[in-house]
Amino acid sequence: MCGIVGILGSQPVAHDLIDALRRLEYRGYDSAGIATVENGHLERRRAEGKLRNLEQRIGEDPLKGKTGIGHTRWATHGKPTETNAHPHMSEKVSVVHNGIIENFRSLREELTAKGHVFDSDTDTEAVVHLITEELSRADDPIEAVSEALQKLEGAFALGIVFAGHDDLMIAARRGSPLAIGHGDDAMYLGSDAIALAPFTNKITYLEEGDMAVLTRKGAEIFDAEGEKVERPAVISQASSLLVDKGNHRHFMAKEIHEQPEVISHTLSHYIDMAEGRVDYPDLGLDLSDLSRITISACGTAYYAGLVGKYWIEKYARVPVEIDVASELRYREAPLPKDGLALFISQSGETADTLAVLRYCKEQGQRIASIVNVRTSTIARESDVILPTLAGPEIGVASTKAFTCQLAALAGLTLLIGRARGTISPELEQELVQGLLEVPRHMAEVMADEAQYEKLAHDLSKARDVLYLGRGINYPLALEGALKLKEISYIHAEGYAAGELKHGPIALIDENVPVIVVAPSDDLHDKTVSNVQEVAARGGKIILISNGDEDSAGCELMAHIRVPDAHPFTNPLLYAVPIQLIAYHTAVQMGTDVDQPRNLAKSVTVE
Ligand code: F6R
Repeated sequence: MCGIVGILGSQPVAHDLIDALRRLEYRGYDSAGIATVENGHLERRRAEGKLRNLEQRIGEDPLKGKTGIGHTRWATHGKPTETNAHPHMSEKVSVVHNGIIENFRSLREELTAKGHVFDSDTDTEAVVHLITEELSRADDPIEAVSEALQKLEGAFALGIVFAGHDDLMIAARRGSPLAIGHGDDAMYLGSDAIALAPFTNKITYLEEGDMAVLTRKGAEIFDAEGEKVERPAVISQASSLLVDKGNHRHFMAKEIHEQPEVISHTLSHYIDMAEGRVDYPDLGLDLSDLSRITISACGTAYYAGLVGKYWIEKYARVPVEIDVASELRYREAPLPKDGLALFISQSGETADTLAVLRYCKEQGQRIASIVNVRTSTIARESDVILPTLAGPEIGVASTKAFTCQLAALAGLTLLIGRARGTISPELEQELVQGLLEVPRHMAEVMADEAQYEKLAHDLSKARDVLYLGRGINYPLALEGALKLKEISYIHAEGYAAGELKHGPIALIDENVPVIVVAPSDDLHDKTVSNVQEVAARGGKIILISNGDEDSAGCELMAHIRVPDAHPFTNPLLYAVPIQLIAYHTAVQMGTDVDQPRNLAKSVTVE
């Protein structure tokens, strides 16, 4: 997790950059750094560890530039050393970056062959050399960055300054958030509005694919197609609130849109990017000899666990027992000797989950937990914590915590599969590569939000909605139905598609929309048969798939297209449309989206 800032000011900016970075330190504090443009040259100071180390360094050796960028790092590629600290730079350009450059290895090879010398192990340095290379062709920073952006793959936010250009900063956003602050004869850049709160509350949020050219007079913004666009400036409440909604109407919308970024953070916690393999804390067990894993959780976290069961059984070939915590706690289930019990909880305080954890401990199980709050009771009572790096989740309906739980479970699957020899090094690399592409694919799923608004208009008239999925898509059908009912209050049920004919098909008529999660996987054709059974009875089908509209072989009420991705990563990707369907339907119904009736964020009672 990293934080980015930038300032074009009228006084030396180092002090204010540090101030802004302090407000972003929650995003990481492995190292920090600042670069400014001084008399046409780029100067930088960096320090390993917390921001105070950088502050001390700058105290001893000040930076005088009035244009500068800063970064606080949460290490992904390369160890948390000073050499790997941002900003990275050449003589011509300096860059701060948040996110993952997926194709950094091939870029590095290409640029090294052209004579560029890399100092660090980071993916970011490839961006520096790429822009430098473009600048050597045409000495125009805007053109050079536009060209470079086209060659980058991944999800990222960038802040860039240039030697010889005291009144210029370029920012780019793909997947990771970026806000521009408007001052008096000064402009600012930050990962969020909170970073900029001491300087300005007039904020423009960049949209997916935007590139912004900042001078002290203002900002020109270009969209993904390179067209000049206007993005509104809004007055942020960030100065008075620790957590801000940004330019979203609800926390839930903000949290849905944060997913490309927080998934990157969670993945980078568990993946050695340079090696392309997973790297987990020691679970204190011989994973090659696991006889069974017991997973327990509640609600959405339970559905994440259910996806984990499909993954672990398929790829790591270990049987997984899973149950909702409120049942498992009273079942007096026999547990295998020295087994692994895995708990999943956003809050880490859910009473039922905690009770099962304590039961499993008494039964001599090794306890691992996937939690979002590292100081929580469940975390404290576990032998091993597998953190999700979703950041605070304010919306009561869980969104980003769910997909981060999936990210942690995906990594755990690879770890166990590797230990047991069911996942070869080649397959591990392939699956890791698939995971690294998830943030970019998620951003693509969110690109066309109008289709969800349109669909919500029709869904809001329904009394009942069914969700169907087969195999690993079945837990998503359950999660889709839960999300829809908890925030829109429309009755919704999730079913395994193959179960339909054993009862629920009696519910189908022309008033019941049926949402089908059907990626082109090995069970796709079977799901399509179930879709046709529904269509034959007048049911209205909403298909979520990466195939064509006509792949369902019947008329559709709507088709939500998801990008082609590695099938392993589908649960992460297909989570996004089901969240957006629920969100827009709830908005259409006028419910209290962030605090739906009768619910609480942290369920600390039985
Ligand atoms: C639904 C939702 C709940 C929680 C459940 C467990 O959107 O958020 O179903 O998933 O109450 O909470 P945690 O994860 O805090 O244990």
